[in-house]
Amino acid sequence: MTAQLTGPTTAAVLRVDQVSAGYGSGSRSARVLRDVSLAVAPGRTMGIVGESGSGKSTLAKVLVGELAPLSGRVLLADQDTARMARGQLRAARRSVQLVPQDPYSSLNPRMTVGRALAEAIDPGGSLRRIDRARITELLETVALEGDAADRLPHEFSGGQRQRIVIARALAVQPQVLIADEVTSALDSSVQAEVLNLLLSLQREKDLALVFITHDLSIARYMCDEISVLYLGSLVEQGDIGLLHAPAHPYTDLLQASVPDPSGAMFTNEPPPVVAADPGDPADPPAGCAFHPRCPQGPRVVEGRSVCIEKAPPLVPLTGRGGRAAACHFPLVRAGSSE
Ligand SMILES: Nc1ncnc2c1ncn2[C@@H]1O[C@H](COP(=O)(O)OP(=O)(O)O)[C@@H](O)[C@H]1O
Ligand code: SF4
Ligand SMILES: [Mg+2]
Repeated sequence: MTAQLTGPTTAAVLRVDQVSAGYGSGSRSARVLRDVSLAVAPGRTMGIVGESGSGKSTLAKVLVGELAPLSGRVLLADQDTARMARGQLRAARRSVQLVPQDPYSSLNPRMTVGRALAEAIDPGGSLRRIDRARITELLETVALEGDAADRLPHEFSGGQRQRIVIARALAVQPQVLIADEVTSALDSSVQAEVLNLLLSLQREKDLALVFITHDLSIARYMCDEISVLYLGSLVEQGDIGLLHAPAHPYTDLLQASVPDPSGAMFTNEPPPVVAADPGDPADPPAGCAFHPRCPQGPRVVEGRSVCIEKAPPLVPLTGRGGRAAACHFPLVRAGSSE
């Protein structure tokens, strides 16, 4: 039985409900995320996949409270963050930490690792009161020696820097980690190391993990559930098994272009895309936003003008264990009970 991701009974620690978000204001505002709902529970990993520009990092910013939604709700432990008092919100925010894509730019090059961790533990606190034992413990958690505390970021390799960034995120004992393309700046040889570290930390600390990637082979390795974004909207959502039998033609294309996971795991290849301009999430095509590129859509199959006329809502698919897809003509596979 698959957990119902968006139902009211899920023991989710973090949930977004019909969230829309964007950038700018007034006539120059651009909405790039539309009506996104998802939930993540302790010990579980929700993957967010989609090609570049689909809104993954924008969603990450909403999840950590860096970007306020234009509409919809962000809930922490079932409480609406918009209704929290300032002190409560600050504490709640600390429980959701972002591990950003680029470990190079996210560490201050002139700050020792120990100081960076001390700042995370106690922002603005006195340096003399740095808890050396706690810093050593944090470094050991990510398999770095305690003497790393006295060194500067440039003295470490890319993989080690990403470990430092993970240690910094763990400094406040979060319940949720948002990992945004955390291995895409790393050599493929160290990608697996960082991914396995995240998985073991998750098990150890019962963390809820939101794992953002454009790489489906990594998503398969890391995630329990998957949300597929296309031009700022969810097109498919459900357990990881959906990647083996996608209902949405976009998921199908993404997954068909990924090599067998046993062969080419952890490559640094560019995202698998269809050879066509995906368009602008702030101004998506009418109807189904995927229709200009869809192999099952109106440009290829006769009688499917509804794809241009009407946006398909994200609806549960019968007989597919709580999965949902936004397509007027969802794909049916041998083996599904439809
Ligand atoms: N700070 C920003 N200001 C204006 N537009 C932005 C900003 N950040 C991202 N965008 C736009 O939002 C859309 C989604 O971007 P992003 O969330 O970064 O996608 P992804 O992480 O999937 O590549 C893109 O069209 C991008 O140009
Ligand atoms: S609604 Fe139509 S165009 Fe959109 S994904 Fe489904 S078949 Fe393709
Ligand atoms: Mg991004």
